[in-house]
Amino acid sequence: MLATFLDTSDSWITERTGIKQRQIMSEGESLEALAVEAAKSAIENAGVTANEINYIICSNTAKEMLAPTLSSIIVGGIGTQCPCMDVNAACAGFIFALDLADSLLSSGKAENILIVCAEEPTRMVDWNDRSTCVLFGDGAGAVVVSKGGEECTIKTNTVSKPEVLYYRGALQPTPFQGEEECTALRMNGQEVFKYAVSSSLHDIQSLLRSRNIDKENVKYYLLHQANVRIIDAIHHYMKVDECKFPRNIAKYGNTSSASIPILLDELNRAGGLESGDWLVMSAFGAGFTSGALLIKWDK
Ligand code: UT7
Repeated sequence: MLATFLDTSDSWITERTGIKQRQIMSEGESLEALAVEAAKSAIENAGVTANEINYIICSNTAKEMLAPTLSSIIVGGIGTQCPCMDVNAACAGFIFALDLADSLLSSGKAENILIVCAEEPTRMVDWNDRSTCVLFGDGAGAVVVSKGGEECTIKTNTVSKPEVLYYRGALQPTPFQGEEECTALRMNGQEVFKYAVSSSLHDIQSLLRSRNIDKENVKYYLLHQANVRIIDAIHHYMKVDECKFPRNIAKYGNTSSASIPILLDELNRAGGLESGDWLVMSAFGAGFTSGALLIKWDK
């Protein structure tokens, strides 16, 4: 279908990215509804009620309605009342949200936190730009996190390079400033690729060193699903078998910060995770932001 209006081919996309399909929001669907659906599904799977959620963090990069926050829509959508906020750390948003959740749990401000990553990057790209529009898909993934032991370490960082990957929305004109044009997503793909591999490698290796955990003792490395070649480069450099790097990018494309929670959910529901398994998650995104998490699965 893409090749009917773009100078592209299924073989180029498959070889360069590993993407075969992506899910794109259509008329009658909304990011808010998708986010609420993911939230309800996570709450049910976690075995808690909506009233037991004390905080909601929503990771989102771009949406039609900037105020109120998407998290405040989710509060109503699941039928509860609690504090909430949105975070935007682009594709690394899930790791940044988990970092905030960790602080809220450690300080005792919350016991059960709902994190929802809901993204609609297909509305950020220019559908005439073959170098970006074929890469992305819409999606939402959610988790409930609760206080556990000390078996979790998170590392986040930002190296400021706004010009390499950006999207600029339009603001209203004022008597002092004219109307600005919205700029669809612009990306220097090769720069992002290099940063993605080097930051993920660095984040993962420093996490493993800090907890003195052997790379082979990690059951799965759940990486941001941006390009299958990025995932392959990372397991190749780490000299870790590719079966420890699950992937679903072929079905969804890059769903920004939703990619890791969707992958985690699929793995969990397929029975792939057992209490006591060490998991590493690692993501990178516009900013450049990057973050990684080492956690012992306990469910
Ligand atoms: O969540 C973070 C967001 N972004 C990323 O993670 C993206 C990271 N980067 C990448 O995944 C890769 O750099 C891309 C998939 C974006 C591009 O792959 P590449 O192997 O780096 O290709 P390239 O940019 O070097 O382009 C090679 C050629 C170019 O043509 P010429 O100049 O050699 O004639 C492009 O114009 O491929 C062309 N090209 C395409 N051809 C067919 C770019 N996009 C397409 C396309 N179909 N869709």
